[in-house]
Amino acid sequence: MIPQETIEQIRDTVDIVDVIGDYLRLKKRGRNFLALCPFHTEKTPSFTISPDKQMYYCFGCGKGGNAITFLMEHEKMTFVEAVRHLAAKANITIKETGSDYRREQLERLNYAHVVALDYFKKLLFDKRYAKVLDSYLRGRRSISNDTIETFQLGLAGEEWDGLIKYAGSKDLSPEDLEKAGLAIHSEKKHSYFDRFRTRLMIPIFNLSQKPIAFGGRTLKKGEPAKYVNSPETPLYSKSHVLYALNFAKEAIRDAGEVYVVEGYFDVISLWQAGIKNVVASSGTAFTAHQARLLARFAERVYLFFDADSAGQQAALRSVDALFDAGLEVKVMISPEGEDPDSLARKHGADRIVGIKAAALDYIAYRLRDIDVASAGLIAKEKLVKELAAVGEKIADPTRRSLFLDEAAAALRVDRALMKTGLPPASETAERVAERRRRLNKIELDFLSLLFNNPGSIDYVFERIAPDDFDSRQLSRLYATMITQYQSDGELDPGRLIELFADDEMKSLVGEIAFIDWPPDSVSEETRAHASRILEEKRKKIRKQLQRELSEAEAAGDTDRADEILEQLKSYGL
Ligand code: UTP
Ligand code: MN
Repeated sequence: MIPQETIEQIRDTVDIVDVIGDYLRLKKRGRNFLALCPFHTEKTPSFTISPDKQMYYCFGCGKGGNAITFLMEHEKMTFVEAVRHLAAKANITIKETGSDYRREQLERLNYAHVVALDYFKKLLFDKRYAKVLDSYLRGRRSISNDTIETFQLGLAGEEWDGLIKYAGSKDLSPEDLEKAGLAIHSEKKHSYFDRFRTRLMIPIFNLSQKPIAFGGRTLKKGEPAKYVNSPETPLYSKSHVLYALNFAKEAIRDAGEVYVVEGYFDVISLWQAGIKNVVASSGTAFTAHQARLLARFAERVYLFFDADSAGQQAALRSVDALFDAGLEVKVMISPEGEDPDSLARKHGADRIVGIKAAALDYIAYRLRDIDVASAGLIAKEKLVKELAAVGEKIADPTRRSLFLDEAAAALRVDRALMKTGLPPASETAERVAERRRRLNKIELDFLSLLFNNPGSIDYVFERIAPDDFDSRQLSRLYATMITQYQSDGELDPGRLIELFADDEMKSLVGEIAFIDWPPDSVSEETRAHASRILEEKRKKIRKQLQRELSEAEAAGDTDRADEILEQLKSYGL
């Protein structure tokens, strides 16, 4: 059980923009942020996030809610999981009764990484290793102190058990370190030793900036493994992580594009040269998960790999996953014998931006060394099939069609050979429009005015009862708003959404909460709408009474008729 006041504290601390920003690529638009809606397929963004309201609402499909409901719907978390996730993001410790074994285990693994990072960082500045710092890092690799600080670079020393000893003083056993992938157990010697020795240590962080793994570059000549990396642990899954995304995500979002390089030091050098929207795939082809991760922040990817053939292969193999995630892909061509690291170090950001400007799109890159005009039939058939298959991965139908046009032109074949199929259009927008036709516009606007002007609730509630509403759903919402205002002293549409179980009501609250009124006309409009609602109510009663009156008169029931006339008078009708 999480204490209610902790939940309130979390709600107050967390910013919905940060939360949703971890999953979607956001664009600032006025006071709000826009994104492509994750709940329906769309080409232009209508998913709107309001920092003021701490809510989101999609004008396309009508999904709305707050940070908690977003995590519940998008990440399929339970309420408690969502609250925990937000607590972790906001660095709020939840003191709960009862414990959860897995969570404790993860916390222990995390702690082990924090301790190890601390150890490695200290060791880098130890006098014994001054040579590594001065001649290797600052000298040969031209890494500045700022950069060391930013990337939290460290050093694993020569001892077999340096970390094991240090961690022992921090309440961590060798078994703990082994579980964290930081120590190795030797069956033969019945003992543990450090996994990383005599290596420059590069910590890998998750998006919450917590260290979850390490890459270690050898400092010895002739060492067979240039890099040793952490193994998979419950904390770290290689295929789910992109190195440096935690540092780069804001810059990527701002630029809308990202450089993807191969190595840790490619990232570090580009960053030091001032290019901050850069991540590393760590020498493997992109997984679907990594591509989707990137698509939350970027719309265009620049693959910037080594000039060698391994680098080129990696570029080609990454494209499927990237297209599949809806990203545009460009390939940068490094000059022979250079890699992003050496280019940034020797020539700085301008040179890199120049290479970016000359980047090829995928088709041009793929066909770069092929003479299409004189290619044989079989070779051409293979290319048609290959590019058609790649094109099929592009989610957006327009973009896919353009890709296939381009592929057909580049291969000089009939466009019909590049087959394609269009996905069904979404029906969600239609549903929202239908609801708008059904509901009473005055009442709907009236409720939106209350969200804009909660102070008027007392005035309004004395005059209008939920029963006075014509639309049943709006009546229900009004009643819930009154209850919330009376118990919490405020109106929070995001919380109201949480209270409703059915999607239709949730969506309605979102729609209403996102209707903004000019502040200086809110009071006046509230009164005007209240009057209109009361007027409508009077009209309805009058009609009803008049009907009853004519019935009574037709039946010759004069007592009843007098009674009804009295009532009409009392209503001032
Ligand atoms: P590179 O060999 O290109 O590394 O491998 P690098 O970063 O350019 O290394 P420096 O500049 O010589 O120090 C690219 C990436 O592939 C992974 C690492 O993530 C590396 O950064 N890799 C490479 C390994 O995991 N293990 C290896 O043995 C080599
Ligand atoms: Mn390299």
